[in-house]
Amino acid sequence: MRTWKQTAGFLVNGVSASVRRISNRTRVENRTRVEDHSALLDRYLARLEASSGLPKVLLEIGAGLTTKVLATHARRVGAQAHSIDTNAELIAGVDAEVNSDGVVTFHSGTSLEMLPGILREVEKIDFAFLDSAPSAMTTWQEFALIEPFLKSGAIVVVDNACLPGEVATLSPCRKGKIVVPFLLASSWWEVEGHPQSGDSMVVAIRHGDPHYADTDFEGAWNDDWKKRVSDGR
Ligand SMILES: C[S@@+](CC[C@H](N)C(=O)[O-])C[C@H]1O[C@@H](n2cnc3c(N)ncnc32)[C@H](O)[C@@H]1O
Repeated sequence: MRTWKQTAGFLVNGVSASVRRISNRTRVENRTRVEDHSALLDRYLARLEASSGLPKVLLEIGAGLTTKVLATHARRVGAQAHSIDTNAELIAGVDAEVNSDGVVTFHSGTSLEMLPGILREVEKIDFAFLDSAPSAMTTWQEFALIEPFLKSGAIVVVDNACLPGEVATLSPCRKGKIVVPFLLASSWWEVEGHPQSGDSMVVAIRHGDPHYADTDFEGAWNDDWKKRVSDGR
């Protein structure tokens, strides 16, 4: 038999749980997550393998459940996987859980400290998942460092990111606030929004031909701006 305190606690908890459920329902209306982070990464890694041959280097900034997806794909295709995180304890846990064969190289430290060393070792990056600090500037700086290594066919996934005008998002999309407009304005990147995946994600695919600038950002005249800049025109 319950004591009165247990009964009161039960009733109070029950009522507040119902209130929480109702308010959550209102808040997340049309904002249901249809796919978690790992499922979206899995989908795009499979697409990368199907479209541009076997990827060699997979990179994740911000370790966690998603590291397992990178490890699985790297193992299957013989790629290297790199995962960066500031949290050494988290890295140790993920390492023990998913990396018995050492297919993932972990880098403990901030992305901006760790990336230059990784980039000295690799020729190119085939897949990058940007999911570290909840900061537009950090995410942009990470992208700016790796962009020269992202060749035709490469895929970049940004979590907490959305396309301009998307309202039914699952987070404030802070990580994408600088990098997404850049990607949209660039003629080399095809950009796709996944507001109901992960914590709202944006995926960008690097093309070899420069015809992908969003006309809201760049008109047709500007479509080859990067080439003109590099040609000195
Ligand atoms: C959202 S979690 C990553 C979750 C993981 N990608 C997943 O979906 O399973 C963000 C991680 O980024 C790490 N982090 C925060 N700032 C960082 C930085 N500047 N450089 C590298 N990692 C950072 C945190 O320690 C944290 O583990």
